[in-house]
Amino acid sequence: MPSARTSRTVSAAQFVPEGRNWAALRSAACECHGCELYQEATQTVFGEGPVPARLMMVGECPGDREDAEGHVFVGPAGRLLDKAFAAARLDRSEIYLTNAVKHFKFTERGKRRIHQQPRRSEVVACFPWLREEIRVVKPQLVVCLGAVAAKAVLGPSFKLTEHRGEVLEHEDLRVGVTVHPSAVVRAENFTEAFDAFVKDLKALKKSL
Ligand code: URA
Ligand code: SF4
Repeated sequence: MPSARTSRTVSAAQFVPEGRNWAALRSAACECHGCELYQEATQTVFGEGPVPARLMMVGECPGDREDAEGHVFVGPAGRLLDKAFAAARLDRSEIYLTNAVKHFKFTERGKRRIHQQPRRSEVVACFPWLREEIRVVKPQLVVCLGAVAAKAVLGPSFKLTEHRGEVLEHEDLRVGVTVHPSAVVRAENFTEAFDAFVKDLKALKKSL
C-alpha cells in the first residue's frame, strides 16, 4: 500500500513579478517561499553576470559556500569552473551564471552541511525564476551543467550521457549540455574528466 501523503502544489510562480527587470526579479526571489527549501537555507542565491549576455550557464543549486556568501559558484565547484574557463579561454565576467534551484539543499552531519540533490518537484517549483532570467538575459546559448539543469530546461526524460557537448534546439532556445563541475572535482580520473569537460566547453563556445 502506498503511504498516505498530503501533496501540495509548490511553485515560485506566485512570487515572480511579471515582466520586470533583473534587479526586480532578484529582489523578489529573495522573498520566495515557492517550495520548502527556503526554510533551512541562509538566503536565495540568484544568478549573476552581465544582462544581457550571449552565454548563460545553469548549475544545479547553490552549495555550502554559495549559501553563506549569497553568490553563485564561489566554492569548490566554482574554482573548478574558473580553471576550466581559463583552459577553454572563456571569460567568466562575460557569462551569466545561475542555478536551476535558488536555495541550498542539505542534510546536517555533525557540524557539516552535506549537499543534497534537489527533487524534481523542487526543480519544477523553482523554474519560473530561471524562465525569467532567460527572458531578461536573452542568451544566444544556455549551457546546462549536469543532469539536474539539463532536465530542468529540456524535460525529465533528457539523457545527458547521450548528448554531452551537443547543442540542441528547444522551444526557441539553443541549449548546450555538459557535466557538472562537481562531477569533475569528484572524478576518479581527474585529469581525464577535466580534459573532457574543457573539450565540451570549447565545442560549445564554437557554436556561439
Ligand atoms: N554547484 C552549483 O550547481 N551551483 C553553485 O552555485 C555552486 C555549486
Ligand atoms: Fe523559491 Fe526556488 Fe527557493 Fe524553492 S528553491 S523557495 S522555489 S527560490
